[in-house]
Amino acid sequence: MLNNNGKIGIFDSGIGGVTVLKEIIKILPKENYIYYSDSKNNPYGDKTSNEILEICDNIVKYLLKENCKIIVIACNTASAIAVDFLREKYNNIPFIAIEPAYKMVYDFAYDKPTLIMATKGTIESKKFNMLYKKYNNNKTYIMECIGLADIIEEENTKKINEYLEKNIGSYKGKVENVVLGCTHYPLIQNEIKKVLGNVNFFNGAEKVANHLKEILIEKQLLLNMLENEKGTINFFDSRNSKIKKERFFKILEK
Ligand code: DGL
Repeated sequence: MLNNNGKIGIFDSGIGGVTVLKEIIKILPKENYIYYSDSKNNPYGDKTSNEILEICDNIVKYLLKENCKIIVIACNTASAIAVDFLREKYNNIPFIAIEPAYKMVYDFAYDKPTLIMATKGTIESKKFNMLYKKYNNNKTYIMECIGLADIIEEENTKKINEYLEKNIGSYKGKVENVVLGCTHYPLIQNEIKKVLGNVNFFNGAEKVANHLKEILIEKQLLLNMLENEKGTINFFDSRNSKIKKERFFKILEK
């Protein structure tokens, strides 16, 4: 039986999911969180579906032992590949998944040329293909950003700038919208702007936060706390990396 004192579990292949957690904390500051950064298995984007299913299954087992009442998959790749499997296997716990914010383009900037950036795993997934077909504005380029999440994870600005110049430089002047279809990419918005100019970014994190809140209310799982009390945030890294931990809290507090 789930109880509202449980934690909110959230995971990603590394620190990218912090971009989602930041949005969540804005509207749910009193909840207690446990963030699982899976740097041991990073990157997810180039792994097979079976590998991703097994990885996610193990993370969920860990989060359930930590008394989580709900789990947020703060990774587009893991969401696209594993959420149906997880919902079926753990049918007593709600899962909140993220997807590339292509519907937002459809709703707010349909007539504008768009670049979707995401991992290979996301782009090749059935879920993404259904989303793309449904909201296709016929002015969209899709870019499999192989290796980009790894260098963001490494925090290697030089490599990131070179990567972007080489791989998305040709879209300069051609696109006005950019869908950040991997939770690591909001961390490099400034670098993307340097290459593409003043584009509009679309990111699914805020929608995930709102959806999480709705589900907690619907299932009566919101934490009852006194006014002004702040929740706790625990960070776990599968490699026990101190550097990741420091970076995580630095981004969170920015
Ligand atoms: N941050 C992840 C995503 O949103 C995964 C990146 C990776 O590990 O390849 O897709």
